[in-house]
Amino acid sequence: MKKLIVYYSMLGNTEYAAEKIAEATGADVLRIAPDKAYPDKGAKKFLWGGKSAVFGDKPRLLPYEFKAEEYDLVILGTPVWASNITPPLRTFVCDNKGSLQNKRIAVFTCYSGGGAEKAIEKLRKLLDIQSYEAELILTDPKDKPSEENEKNLIAFCESIKNLK
Ligand SMILES: Cc1cc2nc3c(=O)[nH]c(=O)nc-3n(C[C@H](O)[C@H](O)[C@H](O)COP(=O)(O)O)c2cc1C
Repeated sequence: MKKLIVYYSMLGNTEYAAEKIAEATGADVLRIAPDKAYPDKGAKKFLWGGKSAVFGDKPRLLPYEFKAEEYDLVILGTPVWASNITPPLRTFVCDNKGSLQNKRIAVFTCYSGGGAEKAIEKLRKLLDIQSYEAELILTDPKDKPSEENEKNLIAFCESIKNLK
């Protein structure tokens, strides 16, 4: 089964997870980013990103190539912002809704402690799917490494590898 990870990361935690998942499952990786980067320092980071997530913004992305026909499974990764998915992932999903409709979808998300389930549920509704092939929630895996994160990462990768 051909797999692609599509993710956005502002501060590196989701990137860390994406790299681990790619290493363990052999998935290809596509990192998306808005063409105008969000502020990533201090209070501005929370203000701008949080507001953008709450309003359901769909910022324009830097050019990327998504060869949907080459993949069976798409693994979407995002930090949690204001109990929601990040705007860049929203743009990707909305811009590729047709191509994603006949794919199997898994999800992973990084957060600090609140709203991950809500974010995953909002993404499920946006994708208009019944359920995910696999789900993973990590607590700041780069900034706060823990046994729990590693255990959950391994279990997620195993379930991806076991998909028929
Ligand atoms: C704008 C903004 C909003 C956030 N909102 C939440 C939140 O609602 N719940 C939470 O647990 N963490 C929240 N966080 C923390 C991030 O989800 C968390 O640190 C994540 O691991 C960051 O991923 P990244 O390093 O890939 O950017 C927020 C961070 C930012 C920048």
